[in-house]
Amino acid sequence: MNDMTRLHKLENLRRDFVANVSHELKTPVTSIKGYVETLLDGAMDNPEDARRFLEITARQTARLDAIIDDLLTLSRIEAKTGEQEIARIRTNLHEVLEKSVQACQARAGEKNIRIDIRCDSYLQARINPSLIEQAVINLLNNAITYSSDNTKVTIVAVREKQEGKKDRLVITVADEGIGIERQHLERLFERFYRCDKGRSSAQGGTGLGLSIVKHIALAHNGSVTVQSEPGRGSTFSIIIPQ
Ligand SMILES: Nc1ncnc2c1ncn2[C@@H]1O[C@H](COP(=O)(O)OP(=O)(O)O)[C@@H](O)[C@H]1O
Ligand SMILES: [Mg+2]
Repeated sequence: MNDMTRLHKLENLRRDFVANVSHELKTPVTSIKGYVETLLDGAMDNPEDARRFLEITARQTARLDAIIDDLLTLSRIEAKTGEQEIARIRTNLHEVLEKSVQACQARAGEKNIRIDIRCDSYLQARINPSLIEQAVINLLNNAITYSSDNTKVTIVAVREKQEGKKDRLVITVADEGIGIERQHLERLFERFYRCDKGRSSAQGGTGLGLSIVKHIALAHNGSVTVQSEPGRGSTFSIIIPQ
């Protein structure tokens, strides 16, 4: 690809992104605006309607807040990846995974989903601990959201030796959930991409969780992969050269 083509592609990507963000923000704002106007037009005089409309408004406000938080997270990671390397330090991985699990325990508990960690308690890795904690939280949140009650989620972390290459750290999060149809797999890590928009929004999803995971992997010069079988479950792996 020559420089002009590359520039052109980048410009198109940027334009698409701005259009997508605007659309994603516009949806909750339109809803909030509508309900507030309805309240002012008289609905507030009926306490039952007033409560219902305010609850919707509160939910849409939380949604806006979540989208903006995720966008800020994305741009922070991208800014760091662009200029200088992110800070990586030798970290005990088990402790990072435990923190991620703790952050998701309440949601997992509501669905009686057990989260197991399989990781040597001495395993050390050169990572940015808070970014990796965030990435695992995002994967766990998806595993919980897209699984039925009484299922299990397993996190495995290992350091793999590679013939003639750098070792790599592999963190996998496997669920027994609804799985993902093959045709979605290629686009899964794109911003705002969702397999089932209705289900994702109903769960408060922003469609940005996996793109954040991808950017965290990239910031570590790594990658993220997915394997999935509809009806059986999904396995996401973050792979980081050491
Ligand atoms: N563990 C999983 N099992 C099934 N589907 C998943 C899983 N993780 C992600 N997905 C699908 O990928 C989409 C994108 O995920 P993500 O970027 O985290 O956005 P969302 O906010 O919708 O969860 C989700 O909407 C969902 O359709
Ligand atoms: Mg998600």
